[in-house]
Amino acid sequence: MGNWKMNKLISEANEFTSTIGPTIKKATEHNIDIGVAPTYLCLDEVVRSAPKDMLVAAQNCHYEPHGAFTGEISIEMLEELGVNWCIIGHSERRTYFNETDQACNLKIKALIAHHMVPLYCVGETLEQFESGITKEVVRRQVVDGLKDLTASEVKNLVIAYEPVWSIGTGKNASTEIAQDVCCYIRGILHELFGDASEEIRVLYGGSVKPENIRDYLTLPDVDGALVGGASLKIDSYQALLDNII
Ligand code: PGA
Repeated sequence: MGNWKMNKLISEANEFTSTIGPTIKKATEHNIDIGVAPTYLCLDEVVRSAPKDMLVAAQNCHYEPHGAFTGEISIEMLEELGVNWCIIGHSERRTYFNETDQACNLKIKALIAHHMVPLYCVGETLEQFESGITKEVVRRQVVDGLKDLTASEVKNLVIAYEPVWSIGTGKNASTEIAQDVCCYIRGILHELFGDASEEIRVLYGGSVKPENIRDYLTLPDVDGALVGGASLKIDSYQALLDNII
């Protein structure tokens, strides 16, 4: 999943989707789910102009259906556009917009109630990494973010492990770290949801590029990638796919 963050005008998003057809076709032939998360303002245009097999995710949502929440967008509004995935708890939202595990939990539950796919991001900061508390932090984010969900509700859930120190920095986590933490996350999911956890996809994110994506995607506990910078340019987006098939 490409996370476009606060990038691309509608015209630029359009340019991207107008040339993406062969890439999406190739991904579909290889049974790979592939998509992008544009800004709210580009969602409508991307849904309309993208090939039908391309996933389109929002980068955030509000958990209430409507009301006095200036500046927010509800899940029903996303649904109306035909968007059925939503990134939740990205570290930039946690850092700059004070998003808590509790708020993520409300959003994830509301998305699941609407049969949408929450792509829930977890990961430790550099300070937490250096203090050796990565697993503690990730455990709390997973347990609190997924609180009150039942095994029958989580089959559409996707988790992304993104160490904050690796996002946009070019300092991607080693494959050993990615495997170790993704495997740990799977263990927690199993504790919470039993065998139903086997349906949950676990992604790695943080400075994933065409040159290193294959190293992550061949790890036993990594099912996919959440990609920021390298998803913005069509050539690099295509190369991400080409390098894993
Ligand atoms: P990056 O961003 O690939 O530019 O490091 C990843 C993300 O924020 O999801």
